[in-house]
Amino acid sequence: SLAVPNVQQLASSSNDVVPIRYIRPELEFERVFDDEYSGRIPVIDIGKLVSAHENDEESTKLHSACKDWGFFQVINHGVAEEVVLNMKADVQEFFRQPLQEKMECAQQPNDLEGYGQAFVVSEDQKLDWGDMLYILTRPLDGRNMRFWPRVPSSFRATLGEYSSALEKLSVILLSSMAKNLGIDPEKLLSLFKEGAQGIRMNYYPPCKEAGRVVGLTQHSDAGGLTLLTQVNQVQGLQIKRDGKWVPIAPISGAFIVNVGDTIEIMSNGEYKSIEHRAVVNLEKERLSVAAFHGTNLNAMIGPLPALVDGDQKPAPNYKTMSTIDYFKLVISCKLDGKGLLAS
Ligand code: SIN
Ligand code: FE2
Repeated sequence: SLAVPNVQQLASSSNDVVPIRYIRPELEFERVFDDEYSGRIPVIDIGKLVSAHENDEESTKLHSACKDWGFFQVINHGVAEEVVLNMKADVQEFFRQPLQEKMECAQQPNDLEGYGQAFVVSEDQKLDWGDMLYILTRPLDGRNMRFWPRVPSSFRATLGEYSSALEKLSVILLSSMAKNLGIDPEKLLSLFKEGAQGIRMNYYPPCKEAGRVVGLTQHSDAGGLTLLTQVNQVQGLQIKRDGKWVPIAPISGAFIVNVGDTIEIMSNGEYKSIEHRAVVNLEKERLSVAAFHGTNLNAMIGPLPALVDGDQKPAPNYKTMSTIDYFKLVISCKLDGKGLLAS
């Protein structure tokens, strides 16, 4: 990926002119739904989902959230408040450091891990108004500590706890999703056991041309499940629905969850991986933390056999491939600027 400017630095410079490489003329013609519509994003109560007698209604809600929205929020999720608050505080403190300190964790050429910017493949590609710190947190033996900040001093412990807590929550969700799809939960969970987890911390500085730039270009997530925390009270996540952008208003303390491409494929298209993006604010910085959960290196990615094998079953809508081949495909689609499921 090509080297591009540090956006936090760019935004804090006295120059009022936003470089042309960030300006997206097409934004002018887009329609964005108002917040009333975003209020309809499904909200799933995890306490009910795992309880023996309140489970039915909540499972049904989860099933239609995965089918009809691809996005939902989870409340009463069992992740200790302290774990989330520590994460928010440490992430804010990390980005508050001078550039030179943050560069201790800098991305290496052609790598996504570390502190830097989103994948950039060509000199004339439009750029995102944001910086990120991306860390592969799982499997445990895949951790590369050179990317784990030493400042603030609590960061490493905080990230480790956040990583475990979200991994547990992802297991609860995957297990309910499997049941809803009519699959043995153990079969689905075995594909994600000791799977990849990446945590991406996003920093979007304010922008004088907020309406004409994008913090994170529209995309769908390649992995299985993404759990997102909005760090401060500034909104910016939008999802594509009926051809229009819908802003998501996060409930305080909730996680925003989305179905990634891997689950869309495994469900043979019954569950939807939805395009989304992040927009930026005129006056305020915005921070978010996205945790991606993917399969392990032994897993095959394709429509789950129980859904497509047999005479009465629908034909598979997607190819089956190994996790390694899938990962290579994800990278090559990025190089082509293509969406994975569109190819
Ligand atoms: C994303 O990770 O796709 C967007 C996160 C955000 O809301 O900033
Ligand atoms: Fe995403």
